[in-house]
Amino acid sequence: MNKITIAIDGFSSTGKSTVAKQLAKHLGYIYVDTGAMYRAVTYYAMQHNFISASHFDIEGLVSELHKIEISFVFNEEVGFAEVYLNAENVEKQIRTLEVSGFVSQIATIPEVRYQLVKQQQKMGENKGVVMDGRDIGTVVFPYAELKIFMTASAETRAQRRYDELIKRGDEVSFKDVLHNVQERDYIDSNRKDSPLVKASDAIEIDNSNLSLEEQFDKILQLVNNAL
Ligand code: C5P
Repeated sequence: MNKITIAIDGFSSTGKSTVAKQLAKHLGYIYVDTGAMYRAVTYYAMQHNFISASHFDIEGLVSELHKIEISFVFNEEVGFAEVYLNAENVEKQIRTLEVSGFVSQIATIPEVRYQLVKQQQKMGENKGVVMDGRDIGTVVFPYAELKIFMTASAETRAQRRYDELIKRGDEVSFKDVLHNVQERDYIDSNRKDSPLVKASDAIEIDNSNLSLEEQFDKILQLVNNAL
């Protein structure tokens, strides 16, 4: 069957990755979580002291970009590909609120974006890919056959993220999670390089009041129309 490229963009914690994983599994496509790639670079920057609450050494990080290798390895047990940073599985480490607090600053660096976008384009060169992020339909795959832009209220999104973090055993407050979601939305939408905007040909889905099942059915219908 004809394979297409599916780009899913949207604000933080809109459930992009949940539906992207469901779709990839259903269609037998590759799923790429591009946010995980920016998070992995951020984790590297934190570990090597390029970013902290008091300083941000962009030049230092850029000079070490060639040392950062990001890959995805499918884990049968969990049913999706986990992210590796220089051969270390960092799937858990990159999801902390601390990494979330720095990632949008790291994602403003054009050299970081250039390197990751190149890798993302390579991963999707044969189509049959569901990729989620902020600039997939606008920059990475501007000719994607299907572009979806997901939205939901900031409170709904923060509540989902908070529930996820609590379930993992992280000690966080709802207030801090909401603040992080709003701050990332602001930085992501206002940065100079590849800001988060809805592509003119993207279909917007507000999932504040949709169950996972309703959302999946709705998007699958769009996929079938695009095939
Ligand atoms: O998708 P997730 O919330 O994990 O993404 C983390 C951050 O990575 C976003 O807030 C954004 O700053 C950055 N990002 C990006 N471009 C993408 C994917 C993520 O700038 N394609």
